[in-house]
Amino acid sequence: MPTGTDEPFTLVIFGASGDLTRRKLVPALWSLYAGRTLPEPFAIIGSARSEVSHDEFRRRMREAVREFARTQPPSANVWDRFAASLSYVAGDPANPALYAQLEHAMKAIEGARSGPTNRLFYFATPPSLYDAIVENLGASGLAHPQGGWTRIIVEKPFGHDYESARALNSQLGRVFREDQIYRIDHYLGKETVQNLLVLRFANEIFEPLWNRNHVAEIQITVAESIGVETRGAYYEEAGALRDMVQNHLLQLLCLIAMEPPVTFDASPVHDEKNKVMHAIRPIDPRKVDEVALRGQYGPGFVGGKPVPGYRQEKGVAPDSKTETYAALRLTVDNWRWAGVPFYLRTGKRMAKRVSEIAIRFHRTPHMIFHRDPAGVEPNELVIRIQPDEGMALTVAAKTPGPDLKLGPVGLDFRYGEVFGAEPPEAYERLLLDAVHGDSTLYARADWVEKAWWLLGPVLDAWIQASAPAPYLYEANSWGPSEADAFIARDGGAWRKA
Ligand code: BG6
Repeated sequence: MPTGTDEPFTLVIFGASGDLTRRKLVPALWSLYAGRTLPEPFAIIGSARSEVSHDEFRRRMREAVREFARTQPPSANVWDRFAASLSYVAGDPANPALYAQLEHAMKAIEGARSGPTNRLFYFATPPSLYDAIVENLGASGLAHPQGGWTRIIVEKPFGHDYESARALNSQLGRVFREDQIYRIDHYLGKETVQNLLVLRFANEIFEPLWNRNHVAEIQITVAESIGVETRGAYYEEAGALRDMVQNHLLQLLCLIAMEPPVTFDASPVHDEKNKVMHAIRPIDPRKVDEVALRGQYGPGFVGGKPVPGYRQEKGVAPDSKTETYAALRLTVDNWRWAGVPFYLRTGKRMAKRVSEIAIRFHRTPHMIFHRDPAGVEPNELVIRIQPDEGMALTVAAKTPGPDLKLGPVGLDFRYGEVFGAEPPEAYERLLLDAVHGDSTLYARADWVEKAWWLLGPVLDAWIQASAPAPYLYEANSWGPSEADAFIARDGGAWRKA
């Protein structure tokens, strides 16, 4: 957990002209600063190929904050103070000369302030540049702590399959120690995802129920209403399985399924998550269809306006087989979860933007109010990650009237209503954690590799030329109808989120 201690640091962002910097990183840093939680003194050096003056960079970041930040500057003065910490160094990350320039810029900043030399390098570039950045940080000596700490934050994708993830990890490991490497998965920084851990491990009432004796099934849904937007070229290479399941959805599964860690610190949490990964039943390459299904959105209407199908998006092949929807049925083979199916689904251009985890409990063993116990809905705990952050527990209640009729009612906690504020952005928490040296909510190397290994048979099956095309679904729908049949095989149904 952040200690709240102030210490100077310098953050270098590679890929400072990109979307991530504009939409997430600088708005998050600004919000931290505005909320007085960013350690000071700090400096942020943006770096990218384009020649941009310091002032122009500051102006662009002002725009980014206006458009994307959670909080707006209360006055020009406050913004100016923040902006004074922003600077820019142009250069090609593949060129060693850039690193001499960066060192020069950092030393000038550090020379003007006291305290240790703490440096954080953020990889916000396309992953094809990671090798060069790591190599150059190593060769220039910048990877070594200089009387303080030196850390890197690496954005996903961490490779595109098991082999490439291992290669990336060993490349990083040649230059950095594991405790210097922060692999970011922004889902872990979401407020409600952290709340899930608090719900499980700070309350006595849930943990005794959190097992196969009481839980019938778990559904994890991350549905997006947007399409691939401007990222067609990236998405063609990725697809929903790589883009969302390998990281965000499997991370959620681990947090739901893991045993209580001894403390909420990096090693115990990572160890428990890894145990879950080891307990997930490996996917039989001959039976991929039984546990995985893919879909692709076709054209449709959103808000009455026509939207293109995936194959008509910019940067997408007209005969693309890339999946924009993926559903999985996973089994966690351990004492706690034996026999409980974990259903995961994610998709773009779905009917609604919603991320949630639904835990459905068993029906009561004997129903005294109805002849037909199936007529009473089982209890369900839904953790809403976004939007409308919160959680709801449905219980059976008597409906008003002379007859003894039952109906489900929700015990609902809404984050916004209770705390009266929107939760902070995931990047705020995670950036702060990296500055404070806390990697609990980051992904460890072995977890990442295991996640790729687990999905390998599905990736291999779907890449085959002979593999059937993904099932088509209409934009603004709940995915292909085949996905309903997929879950119905076990007698279940997708939750209507
Ligand atoms: C990213 C994916 O990791 O997560 C995107 O690359 C996706 O394709 C995004 O849109 C979803 O994040 P969020 O926070 O909007 O749910």
